[in-house]
Amino acid sequence: MSENNKEGKIPMPTPNFKVDANPGSHVKKMIAVVSGKGGVGKSSVTGMCAMWSVRKGYRTGILDADVTGPSIPKMFGVGPEDVSGTDQVLYPAQTQTGIKIMSMNLLMTDENQPVVWRAPVITGAIKQFWTDVEWGDVDYMFVDMPPGTGDVPLTVFQSLPIDGIIVVTTPQDLVSMIVKKAVNMAKIMNVPILGIVENMSYVRCPHCGEEIHIFGESQLEKIAEEEGLKVIGRLPIDPALTAACDSGLAEYYENEQLEGLDTVLPALE
Ligand SMILES: Nc1ncnc2c1ncn2[C@@H]1O[C@H](COP(=O)(O)OP(=O)(O)OP(=O)(O)O)[C@@H](O)[C@H]1O
Ligand SMILES: [Mg+2]
Repeated sequence: MSENNKEGKIPMPTPNFKVDANPGSHVKKMIAVVSGKGGVGKSSVTGMCAMWSVRKGYRTGILDADVTGPSIPKMFGVGPEDVSGTDQVLYPAQTQTGIKIMSMNLLMTDENQPVVWRAPVITGAIKQFWTDVEWGDVDYMFVDMPPGTGDVPLTVFQSLPIDGIIVVTTPQDLVSMIVKKAVNMAKIMNVPILGIVENMSYVRCPHCGEEIHIFGESQLEKIAEEEGLKVIGRLPIDPALTAACDSGLAEYYENEQLEGLDTVLPALE
């Protein structure tokens, strides 16, 4: 009987769907950034994790697994012209600080065209980002996961060798328990949750610096304790972050830190 059955949870068959990395890729740890639903700041947090990693001197990559809503290249100001390759292999784009990136948007001539593909084709593309891209040496690879807990994120979990998960949530999702779906998906997939980030947690008053909790008192500590999760950080709603991401200058955003990364990521070793 599997662990899930013992705990009275939904039984989950665990066949091995993992695909092999490109022979030219040596990735030490792969961390998936997930959320229970879309639009909570998953891509922004993925970018901030990568920025933390590269500032600490780690070789860093971002695999943008959000094929239908890729936003990582725009945040870092890279485009199709930054990707090179041969008949056999693709090389990731590199940002100014050296973060390696592969994303659907880097392979499209017109980034405004929607990717109108069915789930198996989407997951096929994500697998190719792993098998056909030569990533070289990477200490931490962050995977911007497709939003939600459906077919595509499930297949990504089953296909890529994910070592740990970072859950991104907003104050409202903590209250409505959407975050628990993401947490339960991680448990079913048997991947350790490194911790939780509460995005859009508060607004900082530009005059006095006070934290204004526009969604009420944060439930983060309570839910984190209930679920046995570490708190990686709380990020305010900050117009400077939106502006930096919209103009491709995310790498130069330094206002807030996800200080919990200092402990949870090195602990993966
Ligand atoms: N803390 C924040 N302060 C200000 N703006 C933010 C913050 N977090 C995210 N945003 C902005 O909100 C928008 C959505 O964020 P983001 O793209 O990171 O969300 P997402 O969860 O990846 O969305 P999707 O599900 O569509 O992939 C972006 O324009 C981003 O710049
Ligand atoms: Mg996104």
